[in-house]
Amino acid sequence: MSISSIEFAGRTVPRLGLGTMALAIEGHPRTETAVGVIHAALDAGIRYIDTAWSYYTPGESEGCEESGERLVAQALRTWDGPRDDVVVATKTGYRRTLENGEYGWQADSRPGTMIRNAKESCVALGVDHLDLLYSHCPDPAVPYEDEMGALRRLLDEGVIAHAGISRASVEQIDVAHAILGDGLAAVQNKFNPAYRDEEDTLRHCEALGIPFVAWSPLGGYLEQVSMTRFVPFRQVAADRGVSYQRVTLAWELAQSPVFIAIPSAQNAMELDDDVQALDLRLTDDEMQRLG
Ligand SMILES: NC(=O)c1ccc[n+]([C@@H]2O[C@H](COP(=O)([O-])OP(=O)(O)OC[C@H]3O[C@@H](n4cnc5c(N)ncnc54)[C@H](OP(=O)(O)O)[C@@H]3O)[C@@H](O)[C@H]2O)c1
Repeated sequence: MSISSIEFAGRTVPRLGLGTMALAIEGHPRTETAVGVIHAALDAGIRYIDTAWSYYTPGESEGCEESGERLVAQALRTWDGPRDDVVVATKTGYRRTLENGEYGWQADSRPGTMIRNAKESCVALGVDHLDLLYSHCPDPAVPYEDEMGALRRLLDEGVIAHAGISRASVEQIDVAHAILGDGLAAVQNKFNPAYRDEEDTLRHCEALGIPFVAWSPLGGYLEQVSMTRFVPFRQVAADRGVSYQRVTLAWELAQSPVFIAIPSAQNAMELDDDVQALDLRLTDDEMQRLG
């Protein structure tokens, strides 16, 4: 395995993927821009595109569910590169809400819903099976074993080639691993300089040899995040004459060989900048300054 690539869901991919949430939920750019960002990512060598059944803007239009997946499908259809080299991961068990003008998210991981939504994702993505399907979020109303049972059934029926889990604790990783075995291809948890709570799950994935995918690696889209922790990142970035986002992603990739970052880029310039993190090697001194 080279420093910047990893075996992931049956393919070898760079350790930087493209998160497409910001291309589909509230505040998203126009479709042409969004397709352009995905094309720019693929042209730059990105081979992991991350979406979800629930990446849509509620109330935007009739039947807007799965619009994020349809966007990814459109971008792949109109791209002239090697489609089979690309891992498209989606997620199930979560939906959007819009109440009193406030957008939100709601877990719904009843096995029947997970299975139905997974089949809808196949249709939206225009595929006969999904490369990788994550359980999006543990649902307090559903035993975790039952959620994993739904993924197991989808694996056994060939609806999905690989399963993943998200927002998972060490204990939940163990439950998933026991039920899914080698079918468990990824754990997707939040990780960025201002949020390092998932170090224990990162180390657990490392021990099990399971890729750890970091969501909100730059602090999050539309998130109010304290920028204090990013101060040293801005300083190292200023010394190098690059963006602090690039330094942040390079620092994350240096955390572990199983680490994959999936920043959302909203335009081709951000995307181009993010991709260059794969080639940015931080020195020991810089790593120490970043903590
Ligand atoms: N599993 C889960 O529960 C879960 C939850 C959240 C997200 N995710 C996944 O993780 C992905 C990334 O997370 P995220 O969207 O929350 O946040 P993020 O990647 O931490 O931040 C994205 C924002 O950072 C800015 N940005 C990106 N590259 C930049 C650059 N080079 N220079 C300047 N600004 C840059 C853009 O904001 P501007 O708007 O300022 O341009 C972009 O919208 C999502 O797309 C999704 O696939 C998963």
